[in-house]
Amino acid sequence: MQELYPLLAEAEVLVLAAPIYYFTLSAQIQAPIQRIYNMNKPGNLKKTALLASSYSPNVYDGAIGEYRGIINYWGVEDTGIVTAKIDEQKTDATRNRILELVGKLSA
Ligand SMILES: Cc1cc2nc3c(=O)[nH]c(=O)nc-3n(C[C@H](O)[C@H](O)[C@H](O)COP(=O)(O)O)c2cc1C
Repeated sequence: MQELYPLLAEAEVLVLAAPIYYFTLSAQIQAPIQRIYNMNKPGNLKKTALLASSYSPNVYDGAIGEYRGIINYWGVEDTGIVTAKIDEQKTDATRNRILELVGKLSA
């Protein structure tokens, strides 16, 4: 986390990317998200996005609710959310959705 704090302090764009583990973002991404508490808000942040994958459909409500709650608190722009259940992963359609998001994040 000590490596992440300076990067987060500089970042203008933040993409959270994680698999869904039991109806929410995996613990591996929850840990750094929760430690952002220590800096309250990444000061230069302007845009964010969420990428999440799962095996099943309709398992994203918890992750999306958490993501929206955090970015509303930070007062930053949601650039978009891309989810991919098992049959949507590694497809051209999902790749194109991510590339579209990258275009908006870098605009
Ligand atoms: C511990 C664990 C919990 C998981 N829980 C869910 C779940 O609640 N719903 C679901 O659709 N997929 C669940 N999955 C499947 C992952 O979301 C899926 O494997 C992942 O999106 C694909 O990314 P990966 O290549 O990193 O595994 C779980 C996987 C693991 C290992």
